[in-house]
Amino acid sequence: MSNEKGKQLWGGRFTGEADPKFAAFNRSFDFDRRLVAADVRGSVAHCDGLLRAGVLNPAEAEQIKSALSRILAKAQSDSSYLNDATAEDVHSFVEARLIEMIGDVGRKLHTGRSRNDQVATDLRLWLREEIDGTIGSLAESQTALLDLADANREIIIPGYTHLQRAQPVLFAHWCLAYFEILGRDRARLNEVRRRVNVMPLGSAALAGTSYPIDREAVAHALGFDSVSRNSLDAVSDRDFAIEFAGAASLIMMHLSRLAEDIILYSTTEFGFIELSDAIATGSSLMPQKKNPDAMELVRGKAGRIFGHLQSLLTMMKGLPLAYNKDMQEDKEALFDTVDTVKGCLLITAIVLRNIRVSEARARDAATHGYLNATELADYLVRKGMPFREAHEMVGRIVVQAIEMGRELNKLTLDQFKAFSSLIEDDVFEALSLEQTVGTKSQFGGTAPDRVGEALVIARKSLE
Ligand code: ARG
Repeated sequence: MSNEKGKQLWGGRFTGEADPKFAAFNRSFDFDRRLVAADVRGSVAHCDGLLRAGVLNPAEAEQIKSALSRILAKAQSDSSYLNDATAEDVHSFVEARLIEMIGDVGRKLHTGRSRNDQVATDLRLWLREEIDGTIGSLAESQTALLDLADANREIIIPGYTHLQRAQPVLFAHWCLAYFEILGRDRARLNEVRRRVNVMPLGSAALAGTSYPIDREAVAHALGFDSVSRNSLDAVSDRDFAIEFAGAASLIMMHLSRLAEDIILYSTTEFGFIELSDAIATGSSLMPQKKNPDAMELVRGKAGRIFGHLQSLLTMMKGLPLAYNKDMQEDKEALFDTVDTVKGCLLITAIVLRNIRVSEARARDAATHGYLNATELADYLVRKGMPFREAHEMVGRIVVQAIEMGRELNKLTLDQFKAFSSLIEDDVFEALSLEQTVGTKSQFGGTAPDRVGEALVIARKSLE
């Protein structure tokens, strides 16, 4: 009766047909079919579990596994195979094809299993792989940052606080800042992966299974680190998806900040970098324009991912244990999160490989606007003045320099001496751009030697 095309696999209880509009509303196959490989993989491992439990004999298990592998091969080679307007979800699709192929033996596969533990297992298998891919993409963006830093080792840019020129830093130091940020994202994904990699299969619908299935062996076959300890929890837990969306939100927030820096730095007003034609667009109206659309899209897409995180949290918050159909809504949010993050990481790496840095513009900006004022205060401290006093005095020197329309190192020694006899001829050297950067030589600072070391360590960490 059940499992002919168009019939539901839960049909026995029902005499009436589903309203077609409801059936369409209820379906998830149009989006969850991308879990087909995970679903087949889980089914093969479950089949072996049933074999070891004595539920299936070796011939039956072979028949089932060979049919499953044919189903997967077809799904992967012929996309029209998955165009089934009647399948409710990926689990019913695979089971229906199995029964079509091998008849009654196929009807045994669902023993001791529910779609509830199946879908949780599929999602975890699928997400685990996507996490590995995302970690790889993060590493690629990190490599691109290191290459960009290496290609521009000497360049100094203004560093900002409050988007006001603050102190000069090496451009490579800026690159390494984002390297650190993305490194934390990688570490975070590895953490999330640990909690993703727990197997719910064997929880059946909610209460666990009565068949003597060796869950540890099934988990081992599927590459899970462990099995879930509580069946009610296992089928109703989507923390792993929410955690991923949380980690993805941080990645997107970071990419968006990087995008914002790149967008700003490529304006005529800043002019520190230029994007190559390969990743910029023009204007249909204004002939002179070169727009950073790639980075604007990355910045814009961050909002989508924050939204998915919110959707998942809100979808789960009112659900009584255990499985509820609301949870079918997890997939589109999770799938789009993965697709969007992967796409944004890919584009970010490409943009980073298409940046030309303008040394002259960066240097000009870094030497105008009193970015060496802190250095002058530090100079006075080295000569014996308490920092608070030095800070106050340099403030007054800056006011005078502004009135004279000069940078600090363009004042005369006499003008300096009018403020403090501690200031001597060596002040000009101290105020140079190279010195200002070079003195930040403690661990974590922007002195060229430190940055050089940091680059070496960073490279090694990627190996
Ligand atoms: N398509 C469903 C989902 O994604 C699979 C689990 C359905 N289970 C059930 N008892 N209706 O959540």
